[in-house]
Amino acid sequence: MKNTIKSVKGTRDFYPEDMAIRTWLYTQMKKVSESFGYQEYEAPILETLDLYAAKSGEELVEKQSYVFNDRSGQRITLRPELTPSLARMVATKQNQLTYPLRWWSYGPFWRYERPQKGRTREFFQWNIDMIGDRTPQGDAEMIAIAATFLKQVGLTSDQAKIMVNNRTLMEEETLKIGITAEMRRPVFQLIDRIEKMSPEKWQEYAFEIGLSADQLEQIKQMLDNQDLWKNSEELTQTFAYLEAYGLSEYIQYTPRVIRGLDYYTGTVFEAYDTAGDLRALFGGGRYDNLVSDVGGAPVSAVGFAAGDVVISILLQELGLMPEFSGSPAKVFITTFSEELQTNSLSLASKLRNAGIDVQTYPGYTKLGKQFKYADKKGAEFVLIIGEEEAQNNQITVKDLAKGEQTLVLQDKIITYLKEKI
Ligand code: HAM
Repeated sequence: MKNTIKSVKGTRDFYPEDMAIRTWLYTQMKKVSESFGYQEYEAPILETLDLYAAKSGEELVEKQSYVFNDRSGQRITLRPELTPSLARMVATKQNQLTYPLRWWSYGPFWRYERPQKGRTREFFQWNIDMIGDRTPQGDAEMIAIAATFLKQVGLTSDQAKIMVNNRTLMEEETLKIGITAEMRRPVFQLIDRIEKMSPEKWQEYAFEIGLSADQLEQIKQMLDNQDLWKNSEELTQTFAYLEAYGLSEYIQYTPRVIRGLDYYTGTVFEAYDTAGDLRALFGGGRYDNLVSDVGGAPVSAVGFAAGDVVISILLQELGLMPEFSGSPAKVFITTFSEELQTNSLSLASKLRNAGIDVQTYPGYTKLGKQFKYADKKGAEFVLIIGEEEAQNNQITVKDLAKGEQTLVLQDKIITYLKEKI
């Protein structure tokens, strides 16, 4: 037997049922984005490696990016995230854009990660960002968009939560225990990994980066302090705005979310399923230096990205994913006999011209087989033009769900079906 050629590890084939889910997710993201007035945009899939070297962080650039030389020898990357491309697009047309920009996008990304539950090497991300505003109201709008999305796909605040923190606050708090600017990056990485490592390994890592036992103890206490946000004016305001949005139930403060990417400068957030079984549903925050890091003038920004993988698993596990039926055409026209095949095809064209989606049966086979096929393909109405029907200008319409059969005049078929579908 011939071996089927395998797909690339960590990629997914989207069979029509999977594609229907993908399109549905896209539609939910589009609805939420547009309800807040955001415009859709897209960036290239191929970017130079330099773009990410600017600020994405060592792990993403050195361990997870797909990098290759093109035929001219230039180092090219399959985009692992969108934010640096967005920053570049803004920097390129900086004086021609109207701020604050409100933009969203949905497309494929690649990261060379170990494929596991919730992690693939090729995945889709919804990115939504506001550029050119640096108020806590902007932070609150972004978190409100995230919470509205959770609501939109049917997740309650008992099922998913957005965990919020602020990097400026963490800078100030860690400075109090002697973590200076040079130590900040490794300490933030340590905090980012607290939920991803065993307590022993995490402690070992803390000593490796040079923390004293005393500092480690103080960091642990800090990470257990659920009231730390009260020291942050920005967070206090952001939470008040979220209260006004009526979305506070989805929000929780935690000093443990700090984000792995290096470019964040202020409020940061990630969403999780409350059962704690899955990886982050989405993540983002304020990044005020990225546009200038890629060559533009300084401009503030805030945004987040949600992948399609974890949210799909969660919705499926909770039974919240809608059912998608086979064919988009609810009307199926059978072929009664070889001679009457052209009648079926003409009728199909007539219905399509009237805006009704129709599928036909290619060739001719027993009606029973055609009915079975129609049913499997999700048809709701099966039409038959037999000899008698053809002679009397009639069509037999069978409603599959009700099991009822009706004779309809050919002249009346469009009105009849339009009322039913
Ligand atoms: P990120 O946390 O790296 O942030 O990714 C955001 C989301 O993308 C994750 O929470 C997850 O849902 C999804 N994701 C990431 N990697 C994978 C993977 N290998 N497989 C499946 N899903 C994945 C960013 O990318 C930032 N650029 C977000 C942002 C936008 N910040 C500001 N604006």
